[in-house]
Amino acid sequence: TKNTFLVHCHHVLILSKSSQFDGCSLFILSFVVYFQELAVPVGQRQRLNEEVLPFSAFLTDNFGRQHSYLRISLTEKCNLRCQYCMPEEGVKLTPRAQLLSTSEVLTVAQLFVREGVEKIRLTGGEPLIRPDVLDIITELRKLEGLKTIAVTTNGMNLVRLLPKLKEAGLDLLNISLDTLVPAKFEFIVRRKGFHKVMEGIDKAIEMGYNPVKVNCVVMRGLNEDELLDFVALTEKKPLEVRFIEYMPFDGNKWNFKKMVSYQEMLDRIRQQWPSLEQLPLGKTDTAKTFKVPGFQGQVGFITSMSDQFCGSCNRLRITADGNLKVCLFGNTEVSLRDVLRSGASDQKLLDIIGAAVGRKKKQHAGMFSISQMKNRPMILIGG
Ligand code: 5AD
Ligand code: SF4
Repeated sequence: TKNTFLVHCHHVLILSKSSQFDGCSLFILSFVVYFQELAVPVGQRQRLNEEVLPFSAFLTDNFGRQHSYLRISLTEKCNLRCQYCMPEEGVKLTPRAQLLSTSEVLTVAQLFVREGVEKIRLTGGEPLIRPDVLDIITELRKLEGLKTIAVTTNGMNLVRLLPKLKEAGLDLLNISLDTLVPAKFEFIVRRKGFHKVMEGIDKAIEMGYNPVKVNCVVMRGLNEDELLDFVALTEKKPLEVRFIEYMPFDGNKWNFKKMVSYQEMLDRIRQQWPSLEQLPLGKTDTAKTFKVPGFQGQVGFITSMSDQFCGSCNRLRITADGNLKVCLFGNTEVSLRDVLRSGASDQKLLDIIGAAVGRKKKQHAGMFSISQMKNRPMILIGG
């Protein structure tokens, strides 16, 4: 294991220097090393052992991408009606019996975590309107190997739910907010609620979530004029405001002219804050992050359209009706729900997951093809 390897190195080091020590010092040092090894807690040693195991073949695709991040949509319903997410007339909801039950969500999650998934994000619709969301988080928390539990929410129920979410074990929060102007909020999301969301964001900060991520879909003519106000918000608050390029999904009336590209956003922000500095990019990060020196928070850009990051994608998605989706912009899906309900073994499920991951394409087809393609509306995929 890595652990014993380290200890062996230590020995080699000591032995190679042994001429400097008399026999007694060497004896004592060997003991120190020996006891250091014993002092590693058992749990940690197991983890070290696990780290050197190869990553699950089922979750590795043909391009070597290791999918250690699973997004599970808990519901197709939402208490808002965001223009970029769903058509005005709403969407046809899947009958309840065809959605994954609490125990099916947990069975699937457990299987993926056993195979190496380390992060699960609960999405929707609005995940916090699902009545069993706290039970789900509590049970997920018990899964050994799952490091991070995250939620993407519209923030409407946060003030009420946050203490319980934290107690259940929620680690990370992404809150959607596309404008700082209450009337515009109502226009974009077709419902009232701006102040509730703002209070939710403040409560999340107060409860120690850091950074609290704020998702802002930027659309030309709608909220592009608020870029600087959002950046200014990061001066005093430990937020990561993430500007998201507007993406085409069924029924959201996307067109190229409505999309504001990363480069354009960056240029505008740099005019105001020339000292904006880029932060290092993690291996599987989707956001390119920046910071105005001296500000508490930071800003990020999700550049799915102008500069896709498919090469480092480590995500898989499960829709509320139990379909595995290997790419947000791909319409190939496989029903895990049907396999589960047929009473299939874990092995059979894994084979089906492995085959779907194996078919994952190298990258998405580009924004123009995507905008022509039949997919689901975002609300039925899970953000
Ligand atoms: N383009 C970009 N992001 C979107 N989201 C939903 N629809 C779109 C879209 N068309 C993202 C938003 C929201 C999350 C649930 O999904 O960031 O916060
Ligand atoms: Fe609801 Fe989120 Fe879609 Fe808005 S983006 S309608 S808050 S699911």
